[in-house]
Amino acid sequence: MPKEDKKRRALRSTAWYGGTDRDAFIHRSWIKNQGHPDHMFDGRPVIGICNTWSDLNPCNAHLRDLAEHVKRGVYEAGGFPAEFPAMSLGETTLRPTAMLFRNLASMEVEESIRANPIDGVVLLVGCDKTTPALLMGAASCDLPTIALSGGPMLNGKFRGKDIGSGTSVWQYSEAVKAGEMTLEDFMGAEACMSRSPGHCMTMGTASTMASMVEALGIGMPENAAYPAVDARRRRMAHMVGMRIVEMVKEDLRISKILTREAFQNAIRTNGAIGGSTNAVVHLLAIAGRLGIDLDLDNWDTWGRDVPTIVDLMPSGRFLMEDFCYAGGLPVVLKSLAEHDLLNRDVITVNGQTMWDNVKDAENFNPEVIHAFDDPLVANGGIAVLRGNLAPGGAIIKPSAATPELMQHRGRAVVFEDIDDYKARIDDPDLDIDENCIMVLKNCGPRGYPGMAEVGNMSLPSKILAKGIKDMVRISDARMSGTAYGTVVLHASPEAAAGGTLALVQAGDMIELDVEGRRLHLDVDDAELARRREQWSAPEPAMQSGYQKLYFDHVLQADKGADLDFLVGCRGAEVPRDSH
Ligand code: FES
Repeated sequence: MPKEDKKRRALRSTAWYGGTDRDAFIHRSWIKNQGHPDHMFDGRPVIGICNTWSDLNPCNAHLRDLAEHVKRGVYEAGGFPAEFPAMSLGETTLRPTAMLFRNLASMEVEESIRANPIDGVVLLVGCDKTTPALLMGAASCDLPTIALSGGPMLNGKFRGKDIGSGTSVWQYSEAVKAGEMTLEDFMGAEACMSRSPGHCMTMGTASTMASMVEALGIGMPENAAYPAVDARRRRMAHMVGMRIVEMVKEDLRISKILTREAFQNAIRTNGAIGGSTNAVVHLLAIAGRLGIDLDLDNWDTWGRDVPTIVDLMPSGRFLMEDFCYAGGLPVVLKSLAEHDLLNRDVITVNGQTMWDNVKDAENFNPEVIHAFDDPLVANGGIAVLRGNLAPGGAIIKPSAATPELMQHRGRAVVFEDIDDYKARIDDPDLDIDENCIMVLKNCGPRGYPGMAEVGNMSLPSKILAKGIKDMVRISDARMSGTAYGTVVLHASPEAAAGGTLALVQAGDMIELDVEGRRLHLDVDDAELARRREQWSAPEPAMQSGYQKLYFDHVLQADKGADLDFLVGCRGAEVPRDSH
């Protein structure tokens, strides 16, 4: 066998581009219309660059530029770059909610990778759902993979102050409702918040997921914090392009990097950064694609002793640009390692161990990245609550909650769905005070559909006017990673699946005990059984198409809200591999 052919056989793409038969002619001939010379088909690795660029997704609108830098690196390392699109999920744009389409995008990515002559893949991600969607799709194929985040926007600036994506919107809109801010000022803040390419620059879901990419070792060191417009992100893109070619040669596949130990690192990192609650469903779903034994309780037990040391909105004061200048995520990872909270020896995409990557990190601003013995919040992890109101579990982010409300008993004020909430929340006659617990139903995976970010319900105007900023809120929804408050989320099973949440009635008493990890509806079992007999399951919002498929197959939040038939790694082998 000629030497060249031996090289080809080692690569997946050889099944398309190797040989002299009719199929090989077809595969090469058509793609040569892009000007590729013959030597591009000499058995070099084909690197797919999965791009979520879209004009309709502002957070990812700059990714074509980043893709060009990845290509430069691929060429330099002797690879063959091939950029391809994936459905781009714009958090602020998509209706009813971007989360409804995370699994759909993951399917597209998985099938695109498997169906094409790709040996390794670079995932260009940014806005909230694009990161988990692409990782889920890639995980189900198990090829060498690097995720590259688009980077956060520059800090928002309004009247001399830093303002943060999302977080400041929630603050300002409540200030308008409370009569503390004029509508003119509110509108003035709009253009000042989003000043550059990039994703939300608070520690919202996008920054959290970019940090998860780095903490999992599936992205390069410094992946999370370089601003989108910083030239170092383009340099990183170039290096990613070079490195993925090497990873193909080493057969360093995604399953070798995304191990259970890597997920443990990520979960602890989430606690240390005060990361988004959305990371819970996303990491569970990614792990599910790899067959890794990870559940909701791992979030509680692994994150329980981790202090939040990153002082970023919504839990703290600063923004991602400040985090970058302070030293970024390597400083956090090094701190975790020094306190025995990091698996040091896990391998990362650059071929080094996690510890090798972070051991020389320096903290340039202890106000932004606190010392372990001076944390922002002592126990920063995600708390997992259980009880008759959420037998499958519910979560709360203590670092974003009001300490005085973490143990609370209150009267339920119930909203049957988001429309009911919107219709009644500012009704002056609504029977509610600050000690009540607001309950929102039918906003989970099946109920909304898509498990929208509506769990951080805005308080009634009449309560805000009293200067009250927080109340206990409970739902089966998610909340934006940029949001805050004593908000219990992801109650499972959700109301639309017949969870106890569906049975709560106005006036019921509810007990929340975060320290005791308890969420209890103080209604006896006989009464709950009586109510259950009267309950009927809702119909799907659409009776056909993707939304029907989603409704019929989506798993509950404690299982990552993936579709049941997508769980698992199917590999990259093509069942029928020729025309
Ligand atoms: Fe895209 Fe926040 S809206 S990252």
